[in-house]
Amino acid sequence: MTTSAKYSNHGHYIKEGWSREPKESFKAAWNIISSSIDKDVAKVLDVGCATGEFVGFLSKCMPEAHFVGVDVTEDLLEEGRRLLPQAEFVNASALALPSELKDFDIVCAIGCMSIFDETQIEAFWDNLLGAVRPGGLILVLSPLNEFGVDAMIRHRKRPNGAAGDWESGWNIFSQDTIREILQARGIDLVLERFELPIDLPPSADPIRTWTMATEKRERQLTNGLKLLVDHYFMVCKVKD
Ligand SMILES: C[S@@+](CC[C@H](N)C(=O)[O-])C[C@H]1O[C@@H](n2cnc3c(N)ncnc32)[C@H](O)[C@@H]1O
Repeated sequence: MTTSAKYSNHGHYIKEGWSREPKESFKAAWNIISSSIDKDVAKVLDVGCATGEFVGFLSKCMPEAHFVGVDVTEDLLEEGRRLLPQAEFVNASALALPSELKDFDIVCAIGCMSIFDETQIEAFWDNLLGAVRPGGLILVLSPLNEFGVDAMIRHRKRPNGAAGDWESGWNIFSQDTIREILQARGIDLVLERFELPIDLPPSADPIRTWTMATEKRERQLTNGLKLLVDHYFMVCKVKD
């Protein structure tokens, strides 16, 4: 198993900076967190944090807590340190978190589970479980498949007409596989579908998602891989 799945579609996090308004997914994540926590939160870990935009959002919701963001891309972490000096940014893989990162009340991973494949997905969850305290909360947002199908997807773009490198980032596990992985670790998985409440237009980068109306849905997420993308929050309350 490699601990550095190839994912390089992150330039826009620095180029575009943080959104002026919090992302809808961040607000939905906070709704879940605020209704799940029952005591003061001291430590929060965000895995795959990019430039720390979610950490910045959550630190306004929980000003007393200490925040740590983890990512494998140093440029993103440097930008995070500049934008949010009160938080800690650590260069580490979700598949090999340093042992000091432990006893967190809340561990989040927003939009990074789909980077990992079938040889890595158990290590991903084991690392999150190793970082959360007993009684704590893990919250993961990722596309999932409702038909009992695990799809491991590689893609490459053709910037300027020439084939680029093969990349990951759109692996879509079945709900059943994730439930099985967690059940084997004594964790009950609760799923909450995340539906974008606003239209999202296509951007110049075909890998990024946009919304389109379908027969069944007003706003179906899709992208240039021609996927139908359905995001779910995976909510895991760890036993005391
Ligand atoms: C789609 S972005 C999500 C960023 C952020 N969580 C958000 O929602 O805005 C995925 C992030 O995962 C990071 N990443 C890629 N491989 C990783 C790994 N092995 N461990 C931790 N983070 C990783 C990328 O650098 C990127 O910042």
